[in-house]
Amino acid sequence: MTQDKDAAGAGTQGCCSCGGGQIGWAIVGCGVIGPWHADAVAASGEARVLACCDIIPERAQELAEKHGARWYTDYEEMLAKEDEVQAVSVCTPSGLHSPVAVAAAQAGKHVLCEKPLDITLRAMDDMIAAAEQHGVKLACVFQNRTYPDSKRLREAVRTGKLGKIVLGDCYQKYFRSHEYYASGTWRATWELDGGGALMNQGVHGIDLLLWVMGNVKCVNAHCRTLVRNIYVEDTAVAIVEFENRALGVIEGTTSVTPGYGMRIEISGDDGTIRWEDGKIVRWDVPGEEAAEEAREKAGEGTAADPTALNIYGHLQHVRDLCAAIRENRDPEITGRDARKAVELIKAIYLSSREGGETVELPLSYEDDGPGIYPSLCHRWEL
Ligand SMILES: NC(=O)c1ccc[n+]([C@@H]2O[C@H](COP(=O)([O-])OP(=O)(O)OC[C@H]3O[C@@H](n4cnc5c(N)ncnc54)[C@H](O)[C@@H]3O)[C@@H](O)[C@H]2O)c1
Repeated sequence: MTQDKDAAGAGTQGCCSCGGGQIGWAIVGCGVIGPWHADAVAASGEARVLACCDIIPERAQELAEKHGARWYTDYEEMLAKEDEVQAVSVCTPSGLHSPVAVAAAQAGKHVLCEKPLDITLRAMDDMIAAAEQHGVKLACVFQNRTYPDSKRLREAVRTGKLGKIVLGDCYQKYFRSHEYYASGTWRATWELDGGGALMNQGVHGIDLLLWVMGNVKCVNAHCRTLVRNIYVEDTAVAIVEFENRALGVIEGTTSVTPGYGMRIEISGDDGTIRWEDGKIVRWDVPGEEAAEEAREKAGEGTAADPTALNIYGHLQHVRDLCAAIRENRDPEITGRDARKAVELIKAIYLSSREGGETVELPLSYEDDGPGIYPSLCHRWEL
């Protein structure tokens, strides 16, 4: 595919590579989530979309025209030409994050990468190494972490409000239709999606659970393909033991009707907090009921809800990366941080492959294989 020669007419005035002006931004991958990044960049007031790239020219052109940017079909060419671009959103299929991020880092651009960071340990390590070697920031999108109630949950756990933590659970019971899986040839493939219900959808909750609970020590798991005509798992259950000795359950599926939201439930010997879809819905912390009721009455609940905005999380990520660039600090979710959820998912797949055997973390590159074997896709045995 040849590149677009004529820019859609974006100017670069107002952008600069230092502290004062807007940060020039590029989007690679203009499918479902790329436009969210572009809208978040535009809404941030701190950055501006200068270039959009997709191997499907119409997608790149449409997004570029909306934002008055130039468009490309070849990201290498875009990176070489767009001197004013300082940051790149990586919105390609999950198994194509690393090559784009590495090329961006080599071109001296900071990176905001969609979840999951990539789908293999080696690919993620390449990204982390490239960012470090070229002195650029590598940030990853996990928008659930940006919600105020997510931060409250983590703070409560970390400051001991629940006492000794006993259980950390994550339930993600979703519905994804056959049409969804057919909507992109990369979806539900080991090669580019890296897995199914866990690696694509469930990675959000798993990242949040790890962020709140800390690292996992070991896991026993079973993954199956029970309903959808796909080769990756549509259902998974794992028992985890955290480094702090608490236990937990991770459930993920895309095959139930109706789909529920994401639920994280943390219990200690002094209390329990239940978080659902960005909100704390139970706060059973002794002596704190009154404070919680007051918070709700003061309108911090749904009425004054900043997260009701669709792009809220992505906007926080864009602003955070802008601040990280300006202040020369790490972004809130670094590459190393984002790697953890993928490593745990790989450990879950490995355990399932070995019939539910205990898998200890960290994993090595030898454990970096695909998820379940076709023999566990029960659909095909019917
Ligand atoms: N944070 C979230 O809530 C969220 C939501 C949806 C998707 N995502 C993530 O975003 C990524 C993309 O998902 P999507 O649903 O937007 O997929 P999509 O298929 O809709 O879009 C991906 C786009 O990348 C383009 N592309 C592929 N190879 C390319 C290349 N070499 N150069 C340039 N463009 C290329 C494709 O043509 C396509 O338009 C995935 O990693 C997914 O996990 C995150």
